[in-house]
Amino acid sequence: MNNGAKYLKSNVMVEPLVDGWYAWAHLIPPATAARNLTERHLRIMDSYIDSPETHESAVKNPALLGGPFMDLGGNRVAEVKQLRDNTVRQRSCLVTLSRAIEQLDAILREKASGYSLESLYAEVPECLQGYVELVYDLNNNPSFRLIEPLLYKSPFYDVSSQSVMLSEIKGDDRPFVLSTPRLEKGDSVQLRMPFASEQLDALFRMKKQPASFEAIRDTLGLTGEDAERFKSFLTTETPRRYEKYQGEGARWRYFGHACILLETKNVSILMDPVLSYTYESDVSRYTYDDLPEVIDYALITHDHQDHILFETLLQLRHRIRNIVVPRNGGGSLQDPSLKLLLKQCGFRNVIELSEMEEIPFDRGSITAVPFLGEHGDLNVLTKSAYLLRVDNHKLLFAADSCNIAPKLYEHIHRDIGDVDAFFVGMECDGAPVSWIYGPLLTQRLERPKDHSRRLAGSNYERALAIVEQLHCKEVYVYAMGQEPWLNYVMSIKYTEKSNPIIQSDRLIETCRSRGITAERLFGEKEILLP
Ligand SMILES: [Fe+2]
Ligand SMILES: [Fe+2]
Repeated sequence: MNNGAKYLKSNVMVEPLVDGWYAWAHLIPPATAARNLTERHLRIMDSYIDSPETHESAVKNPALLGGPFMDLGGNRVAEVKQLRDNTVRQRSCLVTLSRAIEQLDAILREKASGYSLESLYAEVPECLQGYVELVYDLNNNPSFRLIEPLLYKSPFYDVSSQSVMLSEIKGDDRPFVLSTPRLEKGDSVQLRMPFASEQLDALFRMKKQPASFEAIRDTLGLTGEDAERFKSFLTTETPRRYEKYQGEGARWRYFGHACILLETKNVSILMDPVLSYTYESDVSRYTYDDLPEVIDYALITHDHQDHILFETLLQLRHRIRNIVVPRNGGGSLQDPSLKLLLKQCGFRNVIELSEMEEIPFDRGSITAVPFLGEHGDLNVLTKSAYLLRVDNHKLLFAADSCNIAPKLYEHIHRDIGDVDAFFVGMECDGAPVSWIYGPLLTQRLERPKDHSRRLAGSNYERALAIVEQLHCKEVYVYAMGQEPWLNYVMSIKYTEKSNPIIQSDRLIETCRSRGITAERLFGEKEILLP
């Protein structure tokens, strides 16, 4: 060590926030952010202010896991009220946008009856004028598309709402982020800066390259108490060195959920980056410390908060050469473009892949494979499985693909042939569509309909049909949200009797009885490919 240079401790947690709420993907595009502000955050905050006891008891009830209840560990009404009032005052523009979306939907429902939509442009609420195109589908159902690039350049996209909260994490327990705002606890430092700020890269570089406290303090503009507290997040201890894979073949490592790192001597690929920090725990795992200096390709399968996580992505931004996302349809409210969104967050090398499109790399390739279902039958195109070819190995990462149309895999098989290793998510019960998309619906979906349209992955029959169709030799059930460090984005607690566990156990048993290697991944795993 030299002249007081310091590293950022490996247990410093980085929570990206939008107006005090954890920044998951729908809080960044202006239109989805506006709807979540009025239909999720303000409602939950009002309900909490009204009856904090209800929230306190609901979060202790396992049957209500993931529900709209704040997990604040004690009465924080005054602070929630303050957050609510500040939000309403500072984001009146987004409240107006949310109401305008509601009005536009109502106008279309009422007046678009198959005749030309041209006369309705004059009735588009003023704040949306010039930002939408009115359209019919071929059955004369009216809708609108948003001109997203312009919305990001409008006053609706206000980066003053963005900040990053730093604190030390010592265990897995974190409140569920969709329903609990992040209140200051006196042990954190809030960096009020846009996610795209290069100062953040300077900070996260310090996990591997030491710098002086004074230099980073000034870069981040910290003073007084904040600067003092921030000092405690630094250490002179040299971090563990990562041994890059140097073998002739390839190696994959499971980091939990859908996050898998595949490395050859020359290329590193990280799937759905969602990582644990390094701290003492009973569940052994790979963490941020187990990544190569450079990640050549980060692949995102779809726009759910357990697969695209800014907390991880921002910390890795300076190490990611290319970030690959599924192609987007363009402009529907429920399907914001990940390419635009990541660009707003400071990513310069975003590659959008269409279905069956391929990126070649040294000794291999990445192919985007169609991903059906798991989005409550909403027209969402931003989803993709990925086939990785490395030498003569073929690995298919299907994430939460739900095999609702088995013929698809017959067509895919004709093109890609047999698959060696198949990774499949089997969260086959899934939440009702309103869980994530409810705030975007401007008319309430009746409960039976809502519950029939689920965010569910493949069950036993569906997963087995893919295994058979693609003649897989190895099957790994993953993306089950079982790792204890994922509770804050998953809010799932399985028992042996949970359907996804029963269904995946059956799949594993059937596969093994046929001589196929099969396992449900949990915690960590390493496989070497010759
Ligand atoms: Fe999903
Ligand atoms: Fe998932």
